[in-house]
Amino acid sequence: MERTFVMLKPDAIKKDVAGEVISRLEKAGLEIIGMKMIKLDEKICREHYAHHVDKPFFKGLVEFMCSTPVICMVLEGENAVEVVRSLAGPTDSKKAPKGTIRGDFGTDVQANIIHASDSRETAESEIKRFFKKSELFSQ
Ligand code: RTP
Ligand code: MG
Repeated sequence: MERTFVMLKPDAIKKDVAGEVISRLEKAGLEIIGMKMIKLDEKICREHYAHHVDKPFFKGLVEFMCSTPVICMVLEGENAVEVVRSLAGPTDSKKAPKGTIRGDFGTDVQANIIHASDSRETAESEIKRFFKKSELFSQ
């Protein structure tokens, strides 16, 4: 059993597709063990996107990520990290195949609907960043 961290980004909220995305995750057999809506700020973006702080698109990324609240989730299931990454599809929505979340709902490389942890280790630190232990309800 594995856990992963998922965030539904501002474009998912603006396009009213959060429910459809959550439904796809549930249908894939993943269990929601934590969920909340929060507003990001620059500080948390700098932590969450530490690998991008020096990139030219970082300022625009922060503006986008802070433009509406986001929905944060912790999902549990077999191979949860890999399962969600493959449901999400490649980073650039324009290159993402139809049938993937980004391919069906995303716009481009920035507005790509969903964040999903890229490894077990990343998942662990992202879950700690966004959730207290008391906010997780594993059965
Ligand atoms: P994520 O972390 O959101 O699940 O996406 P990812 O692993 O597929 O891609 P990553 O390289 O970690 O990038 C994180 C997010 O930064 C934005 N981005 N914009 N303008 C650009 O060239 C660019 N490159 C990355 C995207 O929102 C991407 O999901
Ligand atoms: Mg990433």
